[in-house]
Amino acid sequence: MAYDLRKIPSQPPRARTYEDYLARDSRPAPANLLDTGTAALETRGLDPRRYTDRSFYERERRMWDQVWQIACREEHLPNVGDHMVYEVGKRSYIVVRASTTEIRAYPNACLHRGRKLRTESGRAAEFRCPFHGFTWSLQGDLTHLPCEWDFPHLNKEDLSLPEVQVDTWAGWVFINPDPAAPPLAEYLDPIREHYAPYLWDQSYMGLHVGKVLHGNWKVIQEAFMESFHSLYTHPQIVGYIDDFGCSYDQWEGKPHVNRMMVPFVAASPYVIDQVSEQEVLEDWLGGRATGSVSLDDCATARERMARINRAAAEEATGANLQAVSDAELVDGWYYNVFPNLMFWGGYGPNMWYRFRPWEDDHEKTFMEVGYIMRHPKNTPKPAPAKMIALDIDQPWSSVEALGSLGGVLDQDTQNMAAVQEGLNATFASAVQLARYQESRIRHMHKTLDLYLGSDSTKT
Ligand code: FES
Ligand SMILES: [Fe+2]
Repeated sequence: MAYDLRKIPSQPPRARTYEDYLARDSRPAPANLLDTGTAALETRGLDPRRYTDRSFYERERRMWDQVWQIACREEHLPNVGDHMVYEVGKRSYIVVRASTTEIRAYPNACLHRGRKLRTESGRAAEFRCPFHGFTWSLQGDLTHLPCEWDFPHLNKEDLSLPEVQVDTWAGWVFINPDPAAPPLAEYLDPIREHYAPYLWDQSYMGLHVGKVLHGNWKVIQEAFMESFHSLYTHPQIVGYIDDFGCSYDQWEGKPHVNRMMVPFVAASPYVIDQVSEQEVLEDWLGGRATGSVSLDDCATARERMARINRAAAEEATGANLQAVSDAELVDGWYYNVFPNLMFWGGYGPNMWYRFRPWEDDHEKTFMEVGYIMRHPKNTPKPAPAKMIALDIDQPWSSVEALGSLGGVLDQDTQNMAAVQEGLNATFASAVQLARYQESRIRHMHKTLDLYLGSDSTKT
């Protein structure tokens, strides 16, 4: 649907807050959605060189060596010996199901002369270096030392593969190279508690798409940390996504997690006078279903869609979701986990994003988009979707399974490259941020400062 942008005021008159939506929904909202945090709002900008300077990127290596990061899903490792190669910057790790009960992770480097042990993910009974044949068990013990007579100076017992920390949450396998890092449970606070109800033991990766993008990894990620840009970048969606009624949340003393909650199936106050509830519903369904659906006896499109999604989620999970709130079935919640992860909440399907520097280039990023689906309880976990890899010139919209999201991501992609180019061209000393709507970007940079010992206003 097209909207008349000339009618848009700079301060919308019929704005609703996210709390307003929760208060009007057909079921009471759970405590996790009402806990919007206590963080103080700030106004300081950011030094543009954080995105453009190679030296700043080099300093960030220190951060990547200290943070919890996703290596893969548990369903990537169903059998003993299954392993995934996870890479970020110049780092490479092997994450392996070492036994039925344990997952281990090792730096991907032979302890002889350093060759990468594995160049691809796969299944193996042991890790044999292709160069001279040094061999390790899945538990990391050196089991074969070729020409052992020529290494009288080496003790096999001392040549176990060094391990990095591994933990799991919600079906994800995380690693942390830093042995002194806090436990994952503490790092993820409060997302673990907030996401506890959502049947993650029944989750699996149902769609996985990756694409190379022009732009520093923070430029790319920040494109998804506010809805403020929707009106001018994605004007086609503001008839059914309320870009203004979002909640941007941070919690005191919790540097690794922040949140944006976006009301879906509700018109932006900028265009609300131009659209009926029936049109909101049809517009929302336009990219997702054929045929028209009526409001039935529901007062709002949002309530109607919650009813449809409640039935679909009950069928997918086998669970009784009658008491579950509309927001948990309809809205987009984006929890960012520092430094580069984004998880959607609710009963799904849930999206997931990850952003990594591409080929160690500080101005290119590999972005992944996934759909986390649910399977019925006590049924075998489906195999994870194989990643569809797009090159830098391939549009997201070439992936049919992304539906209307593909076009939205292509609009974002155009901004990203132009932002990176503008940041290289700017004479400004600071990137300016909105106090509230862009507060999560500032929060992320402040956490980065904690790891780098830097000040985000002065690189
Ligand atoms: S480098 Fe691995 S066996 Fe020689
Ligand atoms: Fe966007």
